[in-house]
Amino acid sequence: MKTTGGSEVEKRNAGERAAELVADGAVVGLGTGSTTAHAIRALGRRVEDGFEVQGIPTSYQSADLAREVGIPLTTLDDAAPAIAIDGADRIAGFELIKGGGAAHTREKLVASAAARLVIVADPSKECETLDRPVPLEVLPAARRPVSEVVEGLGSTPDLRLAERKDGPVVTDNGNLVLDCDFGRIEEPADLAQKLASIPGVLEHGLFVGLADTVLIGTETGVEERE
Ligand code: 5RP
Repeated sequence: MKTTGGSEVEKRNAGERAAELVADGAVVGLGTGSTTAHAIRALGRRVEDGFEVQGIPTSYQSADLAREVGIPLTTLDDAAPAIAIDGADRIAGFELIKGGGAAHTREKLVASAAARLVIVADPSKECETLDRPVPLEVLPAARRPVSEVVEGLGSTPDLRLAERKDGPVVTDNGNLVLDCDFGRIEEPADLAQKLASIPGVLEHGLFVGLADTVLIGTETGVEERE
């Protein structure tokens, strides 16, 4: 699994603390990424000990890992998550940029359906003001028109390429990702509204007003923010 940013110890401390917040019998949203993977593995160990949970995955990656560690899966059609655990690429207070793993559409869907969203991250993700390109998942047929609108908003969109640069990243939903650099985002709610209204944009990676708890793993423990 691709890892980014901080140390594995920092990520594990955040992920394992998040797994402790899940109640027996709960339905839990399973985010995507290297930090959330620690939470999924920790939940798997609890399941081995007789703990009962059902997971709602946000990507093929999180579904595969959940199956591997023995977490039974369900869907939003059948259950609403009491809690969702997910990572982030940038965190300013409780506002986030997500989508580094191109999974932000289903991540936002699951996070919005959950009664509580717990974000797990290492300290490298924290910032004063959101300042990283915002990923947009776009329909392949909408790439040019969406790019033009985004340019009008002051950004130059970059089509996300696969690691070997032999083609574009294709999301789990069969779409493309445009990474859109807006510099420092002083008004994330305002930008979120503008991006959400562009025809052909499935979802953008700004998560505003969704996170309830932020867990920042350190080398020795976890800083918790509610
Ligand atoms: C995937 C995401 C991830 O949660 C985000 O990229 C953080 O990943 P990691 O924990 O590996 O740094 O938004 O779409």
